[in-house]
Amino acid sequence: MNKVKSINKKDLLGLKDLSLSEIKLILRTARSMKEVAARPIPKVPTLLGKHIITLFYEPSTRTRTSFNMAAKILSANITNVAISSSSVVKGENLIDTIRNLEVMGVDAIIIRHPMAGAPLLASKNSKSSIINAGDGFNEHPTQGLLDIFTMQEKKGNLRGKKVLIVGDISHSRVARSNIWGLTQLGAKVVVVGPPTMIPKGIEKMGVSVSYDLDKEIEDADFINMLRIQKERQGKSLFPSIEEYAKLYGLNSERMKKAKPDIVVMHPGPINRGVEMTSEIADGPYNVILDQVTNGVAVRAALLFLLLGGKSSQD
Ligand code: CP
Repeated sequence: MNKVKSINKKDLLGLKDLSLSEIKLILRTARSMKEVAARPIPKVPTLLGKHIITLFYEPSTRTRTSFNMAAKILSANITNVAISSSSVVKGENLIDTIRNLEVMGVDAIIIRHPMAGAPLLASKNSKSSIINAGDGFNEHPTQGLLDIFTMQEKKGNLRGKKVLIVGDISHSRVARSNIWGLTQLGAKVVVVGPPTMIPKGIEKMGVSVSYDLDKEIEDADFINMLRIQKERQGKSLFPSIEEYAKLYGLNSERMKKAKPDIVVMHPGPINRGVEMTSEIADGPYNVILDQVTNGVAVRAALLFLLLGGKSSQD
């Protein structure tokens, strides 16, 4: 397969839209960006003069901060629009907000929105690059990319590796982006959770379904624990938090069943005592803070490639 050196797309709306070679290009570029980010002076002039805006209709710690750091590493200007003190609270709609930001000379708008499809709507109404930083239950593509980058860093080629994605698959944009990317890279993805949290027909995405974490963990290479999103559930999908944690949470007893080199992941923020105990969250198997570190490099790679950069690597 020929290696591509650029992404001929205006936007990143989801991993569903990326080819295998484009995913590999972003991951390769992220490796170079990680080296830049680790320098004593982590700054290159690549995006000097570019203007980037973050427009987050939902809270964020990791995604927004790492996009800011990524932009600054590349010498771009970045402005964070605070929705709570913007004209959105006066009722301005998304398209009007996007159009008004665009005419100020913005090159890229990074958007997080509770509605699936909001970044697509923005993209259709904007000449600026639109980057999806999470839309409803749909996709969180840069989280998927940084998860995959971290997995490759830990275990190399992912072809044939068994990846468990555990929790509320129905409400998880992180799960969807991971699935689109991991299946392209040849990983064996198993979604695990209570039947009420697994959408019907998800097998069509190329994954297996299981309700039995104790069985699946025995030969898993990676386990990605999704956050229980109380804010997105219309009704409770399990009898109690305690019951969920007992059946689908990670604790030291359950970890005894896993391979000694299993890698534990979580996109954050963690509900400690629900998805995993603190012993696991802070323990030797987890790469949760590596995921956060890698978010800067992956997002820098994406900004570089979307805003006109070409890879110089073979
Ligand atoms: N993983 C993730 O999207 O974290 P934030 O909500 O803090 O951005």
